[in-house]
Parts: sequence; structure tokens; C-alpha cells
Amino acid sequence: MPSRQTKSPLSGKIPGKIPDGNAKREQLALSEERPDDEALTTDQGVKIASTDDSLKAGERGPTLLEDFHLREKIMRFDHERIPERVVHARGAGAHGHFQVYKSLKQHTRAAFLQDPAVKTPVFVRFSTVVGSRGSADTVRDVRGFAVKFYTSEGNFDLVGNNMPVFFIQDGMKFPDLVHALKPHPNNEIPQAQSAHDSFWDFVSLTPETAHMVLWVMSDRGIPRSYRMMEGFGVHTFRLIDHAGKAQLVKFHWKPLLGVHSLAWEEAQQIAGKDADFHRRDLFDAIVAGAFPEFELGLQIIDEADAQKYGFDLLDPTKLLPEEIVPVERVGKMTLDRNPVNFFAEVEQVAFCVGNVVPGIDFTNDPLLQARLFSYLDTQITRLGGPNFAELPINRPIVPVHNNQHDGFARQTINAGVANYLPNSLSNGSPRPTPAAAGGYQHYQERVDGHTVRMRSPTFQDHFSQARMFLDSQSPAERAHLTDALCFELGKVERVAIRERVVRDILAKIDVGLAETVAKAIGVTDVGKTPRRNTAGKETQPSPALSMAATISDTIATRRIAILVAPGVIGRSIASVKSNLEKRGAVVEYVSVHLGTIPSSDGADVEALRSLLNTPSVVYDAVIVADGDESVTMLAQHPDAHRFVQEAFRHYKALGALGRGQALLLAAGIEDPGSQPGVVLSPKPEGLVKEFRNAVAQHRHWTRVTNKPPQFSAPV
Ligand code: HEM
Repeated sequence: MPSRQTKSPLSGKIPGKIPDGNAKREQLALSEERPDDEALTTDQGVKIASTDDSLKAGERGPTLLEDFHLREKIMRFDHERIPERVVHARGAGAHGHFQVYKSLKQHTRAAFLQDPAVKTPVFVRFSTVVGSRGSADTVRDVRGFAVKFYTSEGNFDLVGNNMPVFFIQDGMKFPDLVHALKPHPNNEIPQAQSAHDSFWDFVSLTPETAHMVLWVMSDRGIPRSYRMMEGFGVHTFRLIDHAGKAQLVKFHWKPLLGVHSLAWEEAQQIAGKDADFHRRDLFDAIVAGAFPEFELGLQIIDEADAQKYGFDLLDPTKLLPEEIVPVERVGKMTLDRNPVNFFAEVEQVAFCVGNVVPGIDFTNDPLLQARLFSYLDTQITRLGGPNFAELPINRPIVPVHNNQHDGFARQTINAGVANYLPNSLSNGSPRPTPAAAGGYQHYQERVDGHTVRMRSPTFQDHFSQARMFLDSQSPAERAHLTDALCFELGKVERVAIRERVVRDILAKIDVGLAETVAKAIGVTDVGKTPRRNTAGKETQPSPALSMAATISDTIATRRIAILVAPGVIGRSIASVKSNLEKRGAVVEYVSVHLGTIPSSDGADVEALRSLLNTPSVVYDAVIVADGDESVTMLAQHPDAHRFVQEAFRHYKALGALGRGQALLLAAGIEDPGSQPGVVLSPKPEGLVKEFRNAVAQHRHWTRVTNKPPQFSAPV
């Protein structure tokens, strides 16, 4: 049994009574092992005199079987890996808490949603879906957004994604979808990508994928950060109040930093330059105290209104537009602590849509119903047996009593002989709790029907909402989505698949889109579909589906690079840096080498990064510092050219102080002063305000960047 920790994670404080009263944190601390001046022992607790050499018969002789330390050490090493998740293998996690703004007792009896004073501990795991555990973070994919609430009534898991709909309507198709999406079984290529024949083959033959495919091809498929994406429960769930009355509900997470994405070329470059980009971003933000925050939003629908929206609320390929039923923001989740051990927490956490508490219930969404089986089932293999709920990260903060015993890796020692119910030998314990006293009771929905293997006719319209999504995009977003389709389908080798996607999917969403894509991928026949709205119903755009109107008034946690070289004017750039840092930006000097960069005014600067190994794709914005010598050196440096060219191509805010604009010109950025998001000024005070606004805008998508950069402009 590991000893109780002697120091608390990151803070170095002595635990015991955890100051913020986070019950899960206190519980996890009991399982932590923090060697601090401890003796090395075997797993049996025997102290070991040497761990560097195996036991041999003579200095140059064979190793002896009796070397129990060697055998144990190697055996434990041999079995360190467990199977990765069959989907969502790559992820990152964080701890935090959740609080409601005001009681939701009129909607649900769930205890953690009653009292704004209650802080419910949470653990969140963000993930990609397709790639293996070691794949890159910034691939085009759906992101998992799974939250475990450790409530006073047991664990509630909200296992969602960063997109509000899904590819398929019935869980029966999930293995087909994932087989098509994963690398080809013959050569296991390509890794973490949907740009290949089998995925698009499946799409071309499965029209219900149309809506979700547009989401994945949109900028939502390449988020800037886990901290800057929305989350969705996808399915319609039920809330049950104290009187047993049910309402339907859709769950949302809204990030307080807004919803932002990368540019596609940038995302691909980051995948090579920093495959851990999102994982690092989450970890670093929490270390810096810039705690990610998300508001929980609810769309609540009376059961009686379930049929009135023109689509079926049980169909997970449909969303309920916020303009029709507004999202009420009911509480906030704050992520304020990194895991202590990735494996123990992020890898061993086991989410399950079936983990609900009284006051929350399911609907008959056939995708949700299959999920209710899948998670528990897969975790038996992944976590090596049925006892994974006992792992520290999965344990509820309330007591667990039942007669589910034994099995691999059982931790609990069940005393007594009465491991059955009813019993008299332990006073009938553990005994059920009546619903009125807090026992979980399923909602008593009336069900009546024939046993059929079929899809409801109310699930048949696959294109109206895809079109609504497309029509809701800003011109820049629509252009990105079109480019993404051209990219992905351009990687499909079989012409027949490309043709089918264009003719049977895209043309039914929007013929203009189909024609543009068809041209790019060498397809000549887009079919005979009339121009619009033949497939499905007329829909209104939903502005909430565009990221264009998102929060853009903060530079908090934005990463800004300042390019400097020897001879820089240190004082002016230092004042810019400190101004940006005061607003929460993370600002780093990047130079021709690491360490101290001599200035021309005695205010030397410290370069944390060098042009040799740090590209601008890992920053949100770039400033070029002032100083004749510094700018001349940078203007002759190919890596400095690439640094600003790529920032320009990726629509980022660019600033130049004084002579700094000469680097922009040298790198081929014509007339920089007239470019959107490019801020020039001779003085720091003239630069900072406008530059801050430019960074807060996130990206300047209207910038025209398709002109090839010129390398010959004079300095
Ligand atoms: C019938 C359809 C689905 C099936 C059978 C299914 C199955 C699975 C399985 C087997 C895992 C791995 C779990 C583990 O090893 O612990 C998983 C993970 C996950 N699934 Fe699903 N899934 C389905 C649909 C969905 C949908 C619609 C969503 C989003 C609403 C979703 C979100 C997630 C997330 C976020 C994870 C990662 C959980 C984590 O971080 O550990 N899945 N799914």
C-alpha cells in the first residue's frame, strides 16, 4: 500500500486538510506516493542494497535466477503498458470543480445542481478520436470532451464531444464507422486522419453522415486549444425533478475564452513541430494559474414539445438551434489542477455515459442506448478486469457498498459472510434506498411497439441541417470548409468514391459546394440535383453555429513571440512585453540564439527560444522589435523570414516597432501597414493598444495571403 503523500502536488504544501475542501483531491492524495528521502524497496517492502547490477556467478558470469529484485523489476517493466482506448486513445486531462449559479431544483433533483455554494470536484479528459496514443494533437478530428462529476450522490459522467451531432444514428453502425475511419487494416496507414479511401467510401454510402462530416471539415475540426472549444452532450437526455416530472435536455459547455481554431496549414505544421501542442497548452495554462473555465449550458425542452422542431430529438445527427431554444448558462467548471501522474489519472480514468445520478436519465436515442453497453464492456479489457471503478481516479467520493465481489485486482477486503441479498446475517445490508430517500429510480417512460430492426421514418432527413450548418458559416469559414473537403477528397485514390461523395452527399447539401469541390478533385459529374433544397427541408441559418461571433475581447493566455537580435532597443520592447503580460498574454523573446541578447541601449533581453527550433506556428502573434542592427540581422536570416511569413499566412496579428517593419518587407509582406491585423508604430505606446485588439481578434481571416512571398525586397 503506498504511503500517504508528504507533499501536495505542484504547490509543495503539506496535505491533510486540503484548503479548498475538494473531496476528490483529498481522496486522491491518500493514494499518492511521493518518495522524499525514502528507502528503495521491493514490492514486498524489502529494502534493497543495490539496483544497478544483477546478481551473477562471478563478475563475468551468468545471471542467477534467484535475483528476485531483477526478476521483479523486469517483470513490472514488461507489463507497464495497457491497451489504449479503442477510440479517443490520445488525450489530456485536468482536475477542477463545478458550481451552479443558482439552484436548478425546478428542473432536476440532482444534488450537485441544487446549491450554488456546493463545489463539485470534476476530472476532465479531452481527446482526439482516431489517432493512436502517440499521435499528434492538431490533426483534423472530432475532440472528446468527457467530464466526470464526483457528486455527493455518486459519479455523473457527461461524455461528450466538441461537436453537437454525430456521424451515425444507431450504435449498430459504430464499429463500421470506426473501422472505416481508422488506418487501413492491411498497412495501418494513415495515422490519425480521415483523408483516405475507406472513410470517404463509408461516407459516400451513408448519407446520415452528411451533417457531421461538414462539422469535421469545418474549423471546429482543428481547435486552437482544448480551452477554446465548446462541448456537447450530443444526445437528448432527461432531467427529472423532485416530483418525478421529466423534461428533455441538451447539454453544452461554453468556453469563457471563446471558440477558436487553427489554420489548416498551421495545424499540419504544428503536428510535426510540437505533436503535444494541445496537451502542453492545457498543462502550461494550469501551471501558470490561467485556469480554463467553461460554463455549463442547458437547452431544456418540455416533453410535450418534443415533436415540434421538424426533426426528431432522438436523432443524434441533429442539433437544436440555439435561436429556437436558447442555451441557459447554469454554472461554471474551472480546471485548476494538473494530474500528478498521467497513467494513474488520464489513462486509467473510465468514463461511461451510463454513470448518472438521481435527477438525470436517458432517452431512447439509439446511439446513446448502444453507448450504455459499450463503455463498461471495453473497460473490462482495457483496464484488466471488472474492478476498475476502484482505481483512485474512478472512485466516487461517497461510500460504495454492494455484493459485487472478487475478480482481477480487487482492492476492497469484504468482511463477513453475507455477500447476497436478502440476508439476515448482516441485518439485510447493504440495503436498497427508496427513491424518495435518494435511491436511483429510472424514469417510467411508457413504451409500446413491435420488435423491429429498423430506423424511424423521423430520422430520414439527412441534408437540411447539413445545409443549415453550411449556410451559417462566415465566408472565411465556408472557404476553409471547402478547402478541407478538397484536401481530404484529393487524398482519396478511387475515383468512384470521390464521385459518389460529390454526387450523393455534397450536391444534396449544396450544389455550389459540390461544384467547387468537384473541380478541385477531378470529378466532372455532380449529378442532376437542382440547385437547392431538394433534399430535406428549408432551414434558416443559425448564427450560433459560426465561430465568427465568438468572444474576442481578451488576450489572456495568448502566446506572443517577440523577434530580437543583438543590437535590439531593449527598453522599448520590454515595455511592450510587460504591457501584454499584464493582460495575461504569454510573451517570449525569440532570437538567433538562446540566452542574453545584447541591446543597443543597455537593456539586454533574455531569449527563451531560438529561431533554430521554434517556429511561429506555436504562437498566436508576432512582434518584431526595433533596433538597426537587430533588424538588419533578422532581415538576412532565412528562419526569421519564414517566421513572419508563416505568421502572416496563418492570419495572425503581426506588430513591428520602429525599424522592425523592414523585416516584414524583407520577408515579402507588401505594404504591411495596410494589411488587416498588421500593426506598425515607431513607439511602444502607439503599438500596444491596437496590437492587443489585433491579438484579441484571434485571426484576421480576411487577409489576402495567397501571394507568394518575395525574398528580394530591400532592407
Ligand atoms: C454507439 C456509439 C459509440 C460507441 C459504441 C462508443 C464507444 C466508445 C469506446 C469503446 C470508447 C473507449 C472508452 C474507454 O476505453 O474507456 C469511447 C470513448 C469515448 N467516446 Fe464514445 N462511442 C460512441 C459514440 C460516442 C459519441 C456520440 C460521443 C460524444 C457524444 C462519444 C464520446 C466519447 C469520448 C469523449 C470518449 C473518450 C472518453 C475518455 O476520455 O476516456 N462517443 N467511446
